[in-house]
Amino acid sequence: MAAAAYTIGEVLFNEHVIQTRVHELASDLGSMLMGKKDVVVVALLRGSFVFFADIIRELARDGLDMRIDFLTVGSYVGNVSSTLQLKHDIEIDIRGSTVMVVDDILDTGRSLSFACDHLRAKGAAEVHTCVLLDKPSRRTVPRQADFIGFTIDDVFVVGYGLDFDHRHRELPHIAAVRFPEDKQ
Ligand code: XMP
Repeated sequence: MAAAAYTIGEVLFNEHVIQTRVHELASDLGSMLMGKKDVVVVALLRGSFVFFADIIRELARDGLDMRIDFLTVGSYVGNVSSTLQLKHDIEIDIRGSTVMVVDDILDTGRSLSFACDHLRAKGAAEVHTCVLLDKPSRRTVPRQADFIGFTIDDVFVVGYGLDFDHRHRELPHIAAVRFPEDKQ
């Protein structure tokens, strides 16, 4: 289906601002994870892939010993509401591990809640969460993240891994998407 007409609006976070914040976040994550037994850092795909790549390399520079895995959660739309399902599971046996889930954006909170429940059910000793962006005004389930890059208003954003209709993930900055129905 073709995407409705839209434009890329203002830059909310430029490349320099993102890199500075990612550096700070990785430092905070590293301090918390250093010394923990069997650390597994999990990317909640797909929008997190650029953020995740930057975070894990910062953690590596800081000397954190970790394993890496990937989880994909998706939704299918039924008659009444959309239901989440696991699309791709992690491969590592995380029983007894300290897991850090890295996601792009915390919106309604459903995906991250689903992912955390799943990882706990697989036997993780601890499950922690890190998101680049948080949109608290959109929350429908009581989910917070332990580490947050930036808090934003209810605006759809693209870039730095985030997409609209599979486009704009490659942008080094994060920009707002403006739709025709938006107030001027
Ligand atoms: P929930 O609602 O489960 O969903 O917290 C989080 C996922 O929704 C997508 N999402 C966005 N993707 N720009 C995007 O490119 C946005 O502004 C946006 N808001 C939510 C994203 O995949 C995220 O992981």
